[in-house]
Amino acid sequence: MTQKLTICTTCKFSKESAFDRNGKTGGETLRNKLEILRDKRGTRLNIVGHECLWACKHSCAVLLEDEKRTGYLAGYFAPEDNDAQSILDWCEAHDRTEDGNVPFVEWPHGMRGHFIARIPGKDAAKTS
Ligand code: FES
Repeated sequence: MTQKLTICTTCKFSKESAFDRNGKTGGETLRNKLEILRDKRGTRLNIVGHECLWACKHSCAVLLEDEKRTGYLAGYFAPEDNDAQSILDWCEAHDRTEDGNVPFVEWPHGMRGHFIARIPGKDAAKTS
């Protein structure tokens, strides 16, 4: 199965500023940190950027999608190493599941309180 993590590239760097001192948005910085960490770990994860996921009040926002398994929209992330690590930990935990539903006890601590919505996978949509 193929996971895709979409990072909102237009989410603000902080509440006070859209950009950091190098002109990067929070989403761009978070994406960069995630790509570096993914490559360092050798995690199989497609990371892409997209302008505004319509979750601006929950900045920085990310969307984990999968061809068949349940996906997730999550937010309230800072463009920092700890949050990038939690997001990648989450993606790896998700990838170990059959249906995309990670048991609560396996949620990375840094992901708790960050979820906004579940996105049904194709198979889940067929069963309801
Ligand atoms: S600017 Fe990131 S969700 Fe809208």
